[in-house]
Amino acid sequence: MNKLKFKAAVVGFAALALGLTAVSASAQCDSGEVVVKLSHVTGGTTHPKVVASNNLAERVNKELNGEMCVEVYPNSTLFGDSKELEALLLGDVQLLAPSLSKFGSYTPKLGIYDLPFLFKDMDQAIRFMTAEKGKELLNSMSDVGFVGLGYWLSGMKYFSANKPLLVPSDAEGLKFRVQTSDVAKAMISAMGASPQPMAFAEVYGALQTGVVDGQENTWSNIYTKKFFEVQDSTTETSHQVLAYLFMTSTDFLESLKPDVREKFLAICDSVTMEANESVKAKEETNKQNIIKSGGKINELTPEQRKEWVDAMKPVWKQFEKGIGADYIEAASKS
Ligand code: LMR
Repeated sequence: MNKLKFKAAVVGFAALALGLTAVSASAQCDSGEVVVKLSHVTGGTTHPKVVASNNLAERVNKELNGEMCVEVYPNSTLFGDSKELEALLLGDVQLLAPSLSKFGSYTPKLGIYDLPFLFKDMDQAIRFMTAEKGKELLNSMSDVGFVGLGYWLSGMKYFSANKPLLVPSDAEGLKFRVQTSDVAKAMISAMGASPQPMAFAEVYGALQTGVVDGQENTWSNIYTKKFFEVQDSTTETSHQVLAYLFMTSTDFLESLKPDVREKFLAICDSVTMEANESVKAKEETNKQNIIKSGGKINELTPEQRKEWVDAMKPVWKQFEKGIGADYIEAASKS
């Protein structure tokens, strides 16, 4: 069987057979190849992170065949939110793409991406990410041993709940699942609601059983994880951007032979650029998939949107010192 197809098939099967994942998948790389595990938490086939990860594996496995072999572990099958960063430092995984909202215990600076209504759309976020200040933030955790290889976007974020949310006061008293971000927690509190940090893998169950009433995410996550099935509706708030830090560790990068490292980094850049060019189309596809599957979407009038912006704007001040006013200003002007 074609080597690439065989690898993909085995990892896909292994993802189902949880416990055997690592062993079965590793067996497919040729001896002598550097085995690179890429672990992430998203699923489905149309999610931007799933597509970017699979493209990376395909490109590396073809262009660096015999030297390097990437295996992709989606859906938290290898590591979930709580363990993946530690696993990277321990060398148990070599590539990750966690949401920028999950680095609060390492740096306050990436909190900029959670500031509500700072980025009005993905184009503004991409302009900031590819300009000087955005690039600087890629390596804001080099002291820890993390290397940012690029930003991968997922989309803008929208609130869903077990009742329609048209103005912030509709959220009063509700419990919202958030990622482990102090900015997200402050934002939910500013709505008069209560934030419940939780791993991504647990969100569907928590919405279904009523442990939480609502959540915030992109169309791609809401569709591929079927959150719309267990929520009344999703409101097009576009209140934040959801993007990932496609990353590795200093130890791993330094362990590569210089020529392999150079080729690997060039593939990473090219896959990143391609992923961000196609992200808007993927988000639109997944929005339409939600509608086709019976999910309800609420649009906001300009007056309703203004209420959301006004309710959340005070959150910026709380985090300005940790993030840096110069970064916030650069992002606002992007
Ligand atoms: C979430 O936890 O809601 C997202 O960060 C998941 C992801 O990786 O898109």
